[in-house]
Amino acid sequence: MSLSLLVPTPTASTVYPRVLPERPMRAVLLGCGTVGGGVLDGLRNGFPGDVTVEAVLVSRHRRGRAPGRFFTEADSVFATGPRLVIDCLPDGELAERLLELALQSGADIVSANKAVIARRPDFAARARERGQILRYSAAVGGELPVLETISRIRGEGRAILSVAGVVNGTSNFVLDRLAEGASLDTAIRAAQALGFAESDPSADLEGRDAAAKLTLIARAAFGADPDCVSLEAIDAETQERVREAAACGYRLRQVATLKAGANGIEASIALTPRAPGDPLGDVRDEENAVRISCERGDTILLTGRGAGRDATAHSVLSDIGAVIEARCGQRFGQ
Ligand SMILES: NC(=O)c1ccc[n+]([C@@H]2O[C@H](COP(=O)([O-])OP(=O)(O)OC[C@H]3O[C@@H](n4cnc5c(N)ncnc54)[C@H](OP(=O)(O)O)[C@@H]3O)[C@@H](O)[C@H]2O)c1
Repeated sequence: MSLSLLVPTPTASTVYPRVLPERPMRAVLLGCGTVGGGVLDGLRNGFPGDVTVEAVLVSRHRRGRAPGRFFTEADSVFATGPRLVIDCLPDGELAERLLELALQSGADIVSANKAVIARRPDFAARARERGQILRYSAAVGGELPVLETISRIRGEGRAILSVAGVVNGTSNFVLDRLAEGASLDTAIRAAQALGFAESDPSADLEGRDAAAKLTLIARAAFGADPDCVSLEAIDAETQERVREAAACGYRLRQVATLKAGANGIEASIALTPRAPGDPLGDVRDEENAVRISCERGDTILLTGRGAGRDATAHSVLSDIGAVIEARCGQRFGQ
């Protein structure tokens, strides 16, 4: 991972008080699997920001996890008095409860957890009210700065008309393997082996993961959640559709679309054949591509790695850098 990429992306105009004379910033890491492990490595190896990880929450002890640093009890982790909580837990009640606790503690928060953040819009609202920073760039688009770009466009006073993209790297990877002739089971196992898919891949395949991302994009682009989201799943029938698309030279893609119109904010996750040369058709494996259409006919296209350890950790690290910059005034990478 290139350290030059860790420069925090400027977002809209929020300025947070620099309330933290103490440095380094004391942080805790919730979850140390694919993403959390990448974040911990990044923080240990050359991350330019002034931050220490006091405690790490995991589900079980194992070799290489030093007692006194790795805990299986959240209370022990929060007892270290973190100023920054980095959430890399799977979706679920635990993550929701601990983000609630982090908010109550007054800590700033960086989260990769799109499902919880999408389900709990009150977290961002409460953080704003209380002057806490809550960033979740990694929740959308892996290493692609989707939310930052939308925030910048809006900060320039330009309206966003629609967003379309391949935002779920796992399903894209699976569709590519199906196109090569693999069975659905084999394709899913390959995605899991590479750390793109979780042990339960249903949220990716059913489109719920992409829908959660669209919700976060809608909040950034339109300031509101979609009024409706239609979903189409990758299932046993999909292989035949992949073959039909390939016979015409097309690729089947899980495409997420969002637009604001007379009927409100409409969102859909649909399997659609895309032609060669179409950036949404040309994304490979776990890559993502997002096209943002703004007023005056401007279109911005973002492409890059949308899932996996390094891409997602990179986004989390960028958010951590932005928190340190906001709180401590430490600038780096420039
Ligand atoms: N993987 C990606 O490409 C990607 C991309 C974007 C966003 N995300 C989001 O990032 C988050 C983390 O994903 P991941 O792929 O890193 O998941 P993961 O590899 O399954 O890691 C989850 C971590 O959480 C810990 N954990 C799980 N249940 C726990 C419990 N009950 N108590 C304490 N610790 C617990 C696990 O502990 P053990 O290590 O002991 O098992 C593990 O360290 C998710 O919200 C996901 O949606 C992932």
